Amino acid sequence: MFRLLTPSRLASTPSRISKLFYSTKMSFTPSSILIFGATGNIGQHITSAIVGAQPKFDKVTIFTSQNTVDNKQDLLKSWSGINVVAGDISQGKDVSAALQGVDTVVSCVGRGALNAQTDLIQIAEAAGVKWFFPSEYGTDIEYGPASATEKPHQMKLAVRNYVRENVKSMKVTYLVTGPYIDFYFTMHPSVPQAGGWNVKAKESVLLGDGNGKVGFCSMRDVGRFLAASLRHPEASFGKALKVQSFVCTPKEIQAEFEKQTGGGWDVRFTPFDELKTLESRAWTEGSPVSTIFTLRRIWTEGGTLYEKNDNETVGMGPGSTDTLEWAVGQAVANAK
Ligand SMILES: NC(=O)c1ccc[n+]([C@@H]2O[C@H](COP(=O)([O-])OP(=O)(O)OC[C@H]3O[C@@H](n4cnc5c(N)ncnc54)[C@H](OP(=O)(O)O)[C@@H]3O)[C@@H](O)[C@H]2O)c1
Repeated sequence: MFRLLTPSRLASTPSRISKLFYSTKMSFTPSSILIFGATGNIGQHITSAIVGAQPKFDKVTIFTSQNTVDNKQDLLKSWSGINVVAGDISQGKDVSAALQGVDTVVSCVGRGALNAQTDLIQIAEAAGVKWFFPSEYGTDIEYGPASATEKPHQMKLAVRNYVRENVKSMKVTYLVTGPYIDFYFTMHPSVPQAGGWNVKAKESVLLGDGNGKVGFCSMRDVGRFLAASLRHPEASFGKALKVQSFVCTPKEIQAEFEKQTGGGWDVRFTPFDELKTLESRAWTEGSPVSTIFTLRRIWTEGGTLYEKNDNETVGMGPGSTDTLEWAVGQAVANAK
């Protein structure tokens, strides 16, 4: 069961003394964690991992809209011991009240609220928060020089610039996961050329020549990585951590689907140049799938590959992440 608090009740409650732990080396242990966007597509995996972490974090609170409290009761009740603050993310006083005694903030807000994060960051630092994770959990927005002009990156780049120019003492960490394999499998009915696997119809569209490696994360692992990062503050402070469940090619994905479902697949390809043409046309036409094309082009051209990722930096060594076999198994089971 969760405990529901309102910002006005919080404001009249004496500020909880944070159990920040400083050793002789000034190391920091997150104790009171506040999550924004906790019930979203990604936020729910992150919140589940934080709530389920062992040993438990002392206090976990989510800041959410009244609409979510009214409509996502089952999800909220599934998080045993969690505190829920219902408020308006655009109201500074609501946010300030919720930040009393909080030492660590995890933002998982959706695209519609990415811009609002500069206010959240400012208020959090003023409230004495020690560590802040802005909402990223996706493609590396500073992979290389070309990243600066990619349209889907602009709001997150603005948050990083704000942090560089304004944040003085609060530590900031970005968790960069690359694409979610769960979403990458999805073939959008209106744009099959953007790639994907339709398990029921046994149809697939592979991007490029199908041999380009892509680094993926599962949605379950994004939560594990975030919880793991919380256990490794010193290694995480000030970094954009690049974490991945596994790296594989579209042809390897296809082979795994055939291994688990048998043959008979209709396999087509969208060559890289065609993908770029489709991307360009989608932006010209103002199509809602423009971002999908851009991200899939970035992933296909190698924008998720690193000499070494940061998995081990946060203690997630080999064998601790989901596998391609598991992810395909999930997709096959969900298609039944
Ligand atoms: N790599 C990828 O493939 C990928 C895929 C999906 C997402 N992501 C990234 O993951 C992060 C979270 O995305 P998401 O899809 O999980 O978000 P989402 O489900 O769309 O939204 C998450 C939460 O944000 C809060 N929110 C408050 N005001 C909002 C507003 N005006 N517009 C939208 N949300 C608002 C809502 O929480 P309350 O109701 O509790 O206030 C909402 O449940 C983003 O940074 C996104 O870019 C990456």
